[in-house]
Amino acid sequence: MPHASIILFSSAAVAVAVALAKAFMTPKTRVHTSVPAVRTILSPPELPMSALLRARSIPNQRLVKALGISSTFVSDDPGVHDAFTREAKVLITTVTAKDGWSRLVDVTETCVNRFLDAKSLDFATFVQSVTFSVVLAGLLGTDIEDLDPADVAFVTKAINERWAQSKSSIAQPTDVLDRINDHIVRWVPDRTNPLNLIIPAYETMWRVAATAVVYSNRNCLLREAFISYNENPTDDQFRALATEGPSVEAIISEVLRLHPPTRHITRSVVVPWWKKPFVPSLDVADVEEAQKSILFGSDPESFNPMRFHASPSGPKRDQLYAFGHGKLKCVAASWAPPAAAVITAKIMAKLDDVELKLKEGPRIGKREGWEGWSIERI
Ligand code: HEM
Repeated sequence: MPHASIILFSSAAVAVAVALAKAFMTPKTRVHTSVPAVRTILSPPELPMSALLRARSIPNQRLVKALGISSTFVSDDPGVHDAFTREAKVLITTVTAKDGWSRLVDVTETCVNRFLDAKSLDFATFVQSVTFSVVLAGLLGTDIEDLDPADVAFVTKAINERWAQSKSSIAQPTDVLDRINDHIVRWVPDRTNPLNLIIPAYETMWRVAATAVVYSNRNCLLREAFISYNENPTDDQFRALATEGPSVEAIISEVLRLHPPTRHITRSVVVPWWKKPFVPSLDVADVEEAQKSILFGSDPESFNPMRFHASPSGPKRDQLYAFGHGKLKCVAASWAPPAAAVITAKIMAKLDDVELKLKEGPRIGKREGWEGWSIERI
């Protein structure tokens, strides 16, 4: 064979080998957007717990590298699941008890005041810092005085960036994770790997609070609901329907419906290696899309908390999939909505348009995309 032909043949062989390797390595994904399909993926009939955990842990392995997570989210061990969910439930139950709740309310107020000191504030950084500090001081017993705003801003930003990058194949420097953990261990010295508990609570709650603040800042009926809840943060007030407007519970439910923090929940499917280029080995429950089904009303794309008051035909909070479904459903599904509402209420009480106001950016963000939003002193 002439020299040029050999080179051509070898390059073609290499290209084919690379394409094949890529096809075998890149899992095919199937996205499910209907409510029945989302229910089946999250709660498959007759699958034992160990298989459910395995199906969740495989797509979550990226969180091991990105954030050093070692909890049930990345493990197929039912023992790890039992111990971790028990630990989370103990924390929540302690805070739900009467004195615990009023402590959480006080802690939240202190955190909001602490992070409002600057003249002009980036909105996402502010809500992230407040929520992160509420999780640490309210749930994990950190002394608020130890939470230096610059350190908190560094850690929350680094967590966000590492989470976002974990979805791509870009290698992440390990020294940033070490720096995150240096702070975390100082703030929560008595637990093994506190990020295991911090991440599921902080990562979701800050976005619920940020989005609830945005809608409430735009509408005086929603604002009033949060101001009343701020003055009386009880279960009854959480559910109370105002004369014209929705309850705080309905507003938070609508945020969770239209802007679920966990937009997609992925499960791996057992597929023989040789079928992987052709058959999906990942099932994605598209929670965000499913919650825009007409089951939630005739105007599913619009933000309308009153849909949750359209009883008996209207949707109920427990029909949402923002907390998952079935055996692996979030242990904080009842606790998180009033807790996120306390954070929202304490922020709304400060955004009075007299001393402080919210300056809007071009669009409501998700984990990212809050550029242009800030809190300004008037
Ligand atoms: C609005 C806030 C929250 C949202 C939207 C949320 C969402 C979720 C979702 C979607 C799952 C299921 C994941 C799956 O099926 O793979 C889950 C599980 C879990 N969440 Fe939450 N979560 C929130 C707050 C919290 C908080 C505050 C805590 C802890 C204090 C927490 C602890 C957990 C734990 C331990 C699990 C695992 C449950 C299990 O494996 O049985 N979450 N969460």
